[in-house]
Amino acid sequence: MTSAPARKSHRIAVIGGDGIGPEVVAEGLKVLSAIAPRHGLRYEAVQYPFSTDRWLATGGEHGGETLPDSAFAEIKDGCDAVLLGAIGDPRAPVGLVEHGVIMRLRVGLDLFVNLRPIKLYDARLCPLKDKRPEDVDMVICRENTEDAYTAKAEFTNKGTPDEVAVQPMRYTRKGTERIIRYAFELARRRNKQKKLLLIDKANAVRAQDLWTRTFAEVAKEYPDVATDHAYIDAACMWMLKNPEWFDVAVTTNLFGDIITDVGAMVQGGLGIAASGNIHPGRVSLFEPIHGSAPKYKGQNSANPVATVMAVALMLDHLGHPEAGRVIEGAVASALQSGRIKSLSAGAQKTSEIGDLLASAVAG
Ligand code: IPM
Ligand code: MG
Repeated sequence: MTSAPARKSHRIAVIGGDGIGPEVVAEGLKVLSAIAPRHGLRYEAVQYPFSTDRWLATGGEHGGETLPDSAFAEIKDGCDAVLLGAIGDPRAPVGLVEHGVIMRLRVGLDLFVNLRPIKLYDARLCPLKDKRPEDVDMVICRENTEDAYTAKAEFTNKGTPDEVAVQPMRYTRKGTERIIRYAFELARRRNKQKKLLLIDKANAVRAQDLWTRTFAEVAKEYPDVATDHAYIDAACMWMLKNPEWFDVAVTTNLFGDIITDVGAMVQGGLGIAASGNIHPGRVSLFEPIHGSAPKYKGQNSANPVATVMAVALMLDHLGHPEAGRVIEGAVASALQSGRIKSLSAGAQKTSEIGDLLASAVAG
């Protein structure tokens, strides 16, 4: 007797991280386990303890570990996705654990796309006057492996009046081309306005002329996608004034970091904004874009919606786009009906929001 091959089981690395991270991730996993049976989704969640607590417990400044090589190898070779809560805690030097965990995974796994959808699900969530859900529906493709983020900081004459600090904005042709190409493909696949906006600051940062030239060359291969250009300062202004002009945008790592916080506000706040750190076809990382909010830690008051949305992006990446859409639909209807009262922390219990979304997706 022959039977159909069982669908692949996905191995998902889970890193709760610092502050509210573990709490919001627990709700994301609750929603995942509720939706799995309906979509024939098989998975195994493997918990990893990497966080500032772990760094302190393993020695802190004296050799404390952020993400050990053995765990990195397990994730790289044995997992299909990573679900991350948040990293950042004032007990560690600024950026140390963030670099050790988030940047290590983004760069080490070569996750060159930082995909940040910005969509408004209910008009009352938008701080802009007279903007409706149909006016806010865009995706920012942030380059995720280059720029000042991955260049080394150098200080000369440190601590003296003659100090000089340098951290270059470094771009490669290959790194620039692959994110631009991904963004053109996305604009085509989304099939909304079929428009791709390049956001840079090439008038001041002349190194970004590489972006200007690469964009123009790649655009020739996509005659069906309209192109546009805005400098980062103007793009921030247009996003607030006319968000309806945006469809897909592509930008550098640093500018993408900044403008997606603006975008998060336009869609209702950091409580809903999620991101995928993606290398198509490879293990990729999904996370809310908010930080660890240490002051809300352990109070069951953080909003888990952004993490639930990160789970939706993860399912899309794992080849279950329908399950991703069901989660998105459940979030949208819970916001529209007022069952999720607000996207701010403290309005409702973390676990209560997780429970109501889990029961909505269980169908
Ligand atoms: C983000 C965050 C990170 C970044 C920090 C935590 C390093 O702000 O994912 O947007 O700057 O990329
Ligand atoms: Mg950011």
